[in-house]
Amino acid sequence: MLVSSPLSGKWTASLCLLSTLCTLWTPAVSVKEHDFKKCDQSGFCKRNRVFADNAGASSSWESPYNILPESRSFKDGQFQAIVLKTINAKGDTVRLPLTVSFLESGTARVTVDEEKRQNKEIELRYDSKVRKERYNEAEEWVVVGGLGLDKEATVGFEDKSQTTVKYGPSSAFEAVIKLSPFTIDFKRDGESQIKFNDRGLLNVEHWRPKIEQPETEKKEGEGDGGEKKEETTLENKEGSSSSGEDESTWWDESFGGNTDTKPRGPESIALDISFSGFDHVYGIPSHAGPLSLRETRGGEGKYSEPYRLYNADVFEYILDSPMTLYGAIPFMQAHRKGSSVGVFWLNAAETWIDIIKAKDWRNPLSLGGSSKTSTHTHWFSESGLLDVFVFLGPTPQDLTKKYGELTGYTAMPQEFALGYHQCRWNYVSDEDVRDVDRKMDKSNLPYDVIWLDIEYTDEKKYFTWDKHTFPDPIGMGKQLDNHGRKLVTIIDPHIKNAEGYQVVTELKSKEHAVKNKEGSIFEGWCWPGSSHWIDAFSPAAREWWATLFKYDSFKGTMKNTWIWNDMNEPSVFNGPETTMPKDNIHYGGWEHRDVHNLNGMTFHNATHHAVKSREPGELQRPFVLTRSFFSGSQRVGAMWTGDNQAAWDHLHASFPMILSQGISGFPFSGADVGGFFGNPEKDLQTRWYQAGAFYPFFRGHAHIDSRRREPYLAGEPYTSIIAAALRLRYSLLPSWYTAFHQAYVDGTPIIKPMFYTHPGEEAGYDIDDQFFVGNTGLLAKPVTEQDKVTAEIWIPDNEVYYDYFTYKTIPTSKGKRAAIDAPLQKIPLLMQGGHIFARRDRPRRSSSLMKWDDYTLVVTIGRDGGKSAEGDLYVDDGESYDFEKGQYIHRKFVLNGEATTISSTDAESRDPSSVKEGDWMKKMHDVKVDRIVIVGAPASWAKKQATVESEGKSWPASLDYSAAAHGRASFATVKKVGARIGADWKVVVS
Ligand SMILES: *[C@@H]1O[C@H](CO)[C@@H](O)[C@H](O)[C@H]1NC(C)=O
Repeated sequence: MLVSSPLSGKWTASLCLLSTLCTLWTPAVSVKEHDFKKCDQSGFCKRNRVFADNAGASSSWESPYNILPESRSFKDGQFQAIVLKTINAKGDTVRLPLTVSFLESGTARVTVDEEKRQNKEIELRYDSKVRKERYNEAEEWVVVGGLGLDKEATVGFEDKSQTTVKYGPSSAFEAVIKLSPFTIDFKRDGESQIKFNDRGLLNVEHWRPKIEQPETEKKEGEGDGGEKKEETTLENKEGSSSSGEDESTWWDESFGGNTDTKPRGPESIALDISFSGFDHVYGIPSHAGPLSLRETRGGEGKYSEPYRLYNADVFEYILDSPMTLYGAIPFMQAHRKGSSVGVFWLNAAETWIDIIKAKDWRNPLSLGGSSKTSTHTHWFSESGLLDVFVFLGPTPQDLTKKYGELTGYTAMPQEFALGYHQCRWNYVSDEDVRDVDRKMDKSNLPYDVIWLDIEYTDEKKYFTWDKHTFPDPIGMGKQLDNHGRKLVTIIDPHIKNAEGYQVVTELKSKEHAVKNKEGSIFEGWCWPGSSHWIDAFSPAAREWWATLFKYDSFKGTMKNTWIWNDMNEPSVFNGPETTMPKDNIHYGGWEHRDVHNLNGMTFHNATHHAVKSREPGELQRPFVLTRSFFSGSQRVGAMWTGDNQAAWDHLHASFPMILSQGISGFPFSGADVGGFFGNPEKDLQTRWYQAGAFYPFFRGHAHIDSRRREPYLAGEPYTSIIAAALRLRYSLLPSWYTAFHQAYVDGTPIIKPMFYTHPGEEAGYDIDDQFFVGNTGLLAKPVTEQDKVTAEIWIPDNEVYYDYFTYKTIPTSKGKRAAIDAPLQKIPLLMQGGHIFARRDRPRRSSSLMKWDDYTLVVTIGRDGGKSAEGDLYVDDGESYDFEKGQYIHRKFVLNGEATTISSTDAESRDPSSVKEGDWMKKMHDVKVDRIVIVGAPASWAKKQATVESEGKSWPASLDYSAAAHGRASFATVKKVGARIGADWKVVVS
């Protein structure tokens, strides 16, 4: 959260201690676009756009980058060469080492660096505090595997103009590397998919000496940014008139009263990446806009700014915008019928991406000539290496899997984390928490976690409690524990600069804080007022951080206390764009500029490891929520979409954002239910709970100035409708958990957009308000519009669809929009035929109280009339890491209509004797399949009986059959099945 409205006087009061902050923050109510840079206010962004415009305007434009032919080599799956950049009319060049690595996974990686210290002058001008090479450590934080080289990759063809490398599965992939100008064309089965530098926009701003200006022209002191900028421009124009480049922001630039010094000068990297024949691109979260990305160079229905990735505290963000938000995942996918491909731009500096689409002619000479659209993207980052991974698919599943091989898959969460989380800024006392806990129970509202925002602390000093309002945190924690519930407390990276506060004293004396450009500890403003920031890039700082979470250090916390990391972009109230100055210095001598987008992840990760190590043996899987993130954050916790508003359009915007997270490797995501800012009207709040029941991370949250809105306060009929949505979530927890397990195994999104599940159906490519849940066949389209009482669900195939609640058969067919009744109490939710999914139907107060409950299986008969249906269930103890040692149950359920049996076998065909059963598995012997509901059961079942066979025995089970009536499908229920969930069994209907 950031800045409360002027009504909550305390921030205004404390911030007004500094008069400049007072003027900055008093009027803050909603996001001001002008608080954040537009492309032409960001020096390198502007330069690269101008570069693109100049290139596009000239028919004779030629990229000044060429491979030195004799520098080429190829060995063990790696192509290396020197790219020469011609930097002036005289023909002077700089040398850029190029490496193209072909990985075993079929992914290719292109890296362009710059040879260090190519001239003496440059070496001399370096400030000793700043590292001299381009930032090259992003890989260290992000990539956890998949870098093995493909030794089978071979040079297929080489001459003086090109080298062609064949690689990938059955050598179906090909990289055609052209020398002059340097381009790469990535092909699959001979067909071009992705092209690098096709438009000639490759740009590596090389190092150069600063031409010092006479002292007299330099301005001292603060002064207005604009004025200063003008003078700098003049100076530089005089200094080097020959280049014709805009040098005004090479050595410093100002924005909003802050000046960024640039000790290394201009060093941006840029590249155009074209997706041949692709009309849709997805990914690069987080942005509040459609899943299918828009064009960015103006025109109707298009943005005029590039998509920006520069993690920032953008409170009350505006919708349908390419503006940056709190987290960044520079992974983009392109999709068309028959092909999904993607690129991962591994760079943690400020990054912008322009997107344009253009018709091109496939073969103008062929009869009729077919025109197709290609998407042309242009990426630019302020510093660092050019480092791009190329994925050639061909399916969306290949992309999520291969991207996860590099950056890691979703950590397997504890099961409670999938339950409902009750949060607000703030529960004001331990008695308040106990009271909410009691009232949730009294109103039969299940929940798992209650949260504490910043007010629980003693004056925003993290790891402390306000002694007046939270005198008994342990008593509070125990009450929660009695119902299997958890507490989450917030811990942020800004550490209050206060006398006698042990944490800041240690932070300073042990030098674990981020430094400013002078090399002393950086000081800025955040919630506590004057603060310092832990530098989680430092291993020693992370080790120290872990000590703070020990139970005897953070007193008042217990085994059921977990953590929320907010403000880790980092948010700095008085910093440029509400974050840290780019010339701050991190561990290793790197500028903040280089690592900005990694900052949130390193802090989140430090906290994850800290809470994991609270107890010897690291027995429990940590839960840590983060606001800021980067590629790889999925390995350590969940994220939410930040400070949204209690407004219908914000509810609507949540699904495209969460779907985008899902296909970008970080599916454990949600939006604040109810909307953070403002007061939702009752029907909005109710609809939001119905939607939230389908967020992978499901948390209600509210701003300090909003009215209390715990669901029991809503009144009838709202409270009951919300309770029903919560119960729906809880009954489906086994299926949600199974979907999380799939994400953990191979990166499959937890909720899936249409292009992902039906990649051949073009009409689904820009649908982002409906989705499938895991592997269940559940197709949901929660209502996100005011006064809407029907939902039009787009039907992606010719399967049978049933209404989840009424078993009504939906009269529809592929490509149609089915109108589903959706009065306030109803969530539009369909079941696709051909699936089997698991539920636990007994209502309970929290997920852990459901741990030993029996299961219900739901079988949906498909269009084949019941010849086949399939599904799976993954279950483990929901807490520990024992699942890594085989302590889990993973069943595959199959309906075989020929012989009419429903069977359960081990989904991984494991030999049961291969796993020695621990306590949890033994206890699971008592957990059974209770009921099986077969929706759409054939009429012949009316006269049939069910027999259960399992573990060498067989017994009858009752089979009730209800014939189809009034549009409702027939269904059958097998009751008291009584087979162990962990055992092989068969239900035979005969
Ligand atoms: C996470 O923390 C561990 C332990 O300190 C460290 O080894 C790892 O490099 C960190 N990773 C990230 C992404 O911060």
